[in-house]
Amino acid sequence: MTWRPDSWREFHIKQQPTYEDQELLKQVEEELRSYPPLIFAGEARNLQADLARVGRGEAFIIQGGDCAESFSAFSADTIKNLFKLILQMSVVMTYSSGKPVVKIGRIAGQFAKPRSSDFEEKDGVKLPSYRGDIINDIAFNEEARRPDPRRMLRAYNQSAATMNLLRAFSRGGMADLNQVHKWNLDFIKDHPLGKRYEELGNQIDKAMKFLAAAGINSRTAPQLRQTVVYTSHEALLLNYEEALTRIDSLTDEWYNTSAHMLWIGDRTRGLGDAHIEYFRGIRNPVGCKVGPSMEADELIELIEALNPENEEGRLNLIVRMGADKISELYPPLLRTVREAKKSVVWTIDPMHGNVEKTATGFKTRDFDNILSEVRQFFEIHQREGTVAGGIHLEMTGEDVTECTGSASSPITAEALADRYHTQCDPRLNAKQALELAFMVGENF
Ligand code: PEP
Ligand code: CO
Repeated sequence: MTWRPDSWREFHIKQQPTYEDQELLKQVEEELRSYPPLIFAGEARNLQADLARVGRGEAFIIQGGDCAESFSAFSADTIKNLFKLILQMSVVMTYSSGKPVVKIGRIAGQFAKPRSSDFEEKDGVKLPSYRGDIINDIAFNEEARRPDPRRMLRAYNQSAATMNLLRAFSRGGMADLNQVHKWNLDFIKDHPLGKRYEELGNQIDKAMKFLAAAGINSRTAPQLRQTVVYTSHEALLLNYEEALTRIDSLTDEWYNTSAHMLWIGDRTRGLGDAHIEYFRGIRNPVGCKVGPSMEADELIELIEALNPENEEGRLNLIVRMGADKISELYPPLLRTVREAKKSVVWTIDPMHGNVEKTATGFKTRDFDNILSEVRQFFEIHQREGTVAGGIHLEMTGEDVTECTGSASSPITAEALADRYHTQCDPRLNAKQALELAFMVGENF
């Protein structure tokens, strides 16, 4: 069957809003189609080359950011703090492993959310679920929950501004390796983890001095003063994604220009469904979540649909089994894929299989379970002699209290109420994310 950016419309689709005003929807799509792309296809090809390196064990992925970006939490500071946190974690991991880190934000487009239920009920009132700021509003009233296509335009504009700042930070001096101490976030500095990071920074300072004496500095070596942070999101709302799907003038191939990398969620990866149809036609590197219900033969079919040429760096499988299931469910899948000689990049999302509810009604995740799933993922790869590509996290550079636990700064179930700010799933705060990076760096 021939593929077109809109051929997904002929397939069964899950997790989509029902827009009342179809005329308005068409107008918005038309307008989006006239907007400039947010990324250039050549950048997506660079990411594929980077992911190919990851697949060969020569580099490591850190992918992270909000569960759901929001219009209300949009600010320079939250973007800057996430950017700094990604750099910090990268330094920690590169310093111990000697491998470069491919940095990918869940940012500049991570607005649409799949939900476990179409409706939410509170005190006897039943309303459509919140589906992310690109679709409706989180406030619990009828007007707020009505899907509004114009939100796509706002999401596009916020993504463009976010992308602009990320590019400025990446190239304008913020990412200079002579600035590693400046990446340490204020609320971590005096904490043991922050101090540990400062020590590592001192080592890097020494190395930089040594290099400078040999004539290599930020002026002579651009690698020292700039970095690349790629963008990614779950391409769930296909009306939006289709409108930003464009032909690359250099190769005449179709690219999704709303982000460098897109992934398919665990709830919408059905073979023969609309999301697989859309994804098979775009040339960006793509991801797919692999949850506990995935069967081995299903996985092989999915790989063949998304990566028919078996290209290196094209497909990232993001494993999210849960700490109590990964040891049983993951090794058979991994072996099947290895035996079929399929080229994929494996990463671990230790967030989505480890959700729990506290007695007080907060959706949370325990840091011990998160660490445990990551550990098990790496150990399984060591035993099987395969490459563990990296980590995929919901995290923020802010000092939130959303996930319980952590050896370095324990958050109790009761303390969750202090600074529980997420629009959707609980995120690691900066300390927890840094602690995780130290754990991975030191052990694997
Ligand atoms: C997510 O990454 O926010 C998400 C919804 O994940 P999953 O599809 O794995 O549940
Ligand atoms: Co989530």
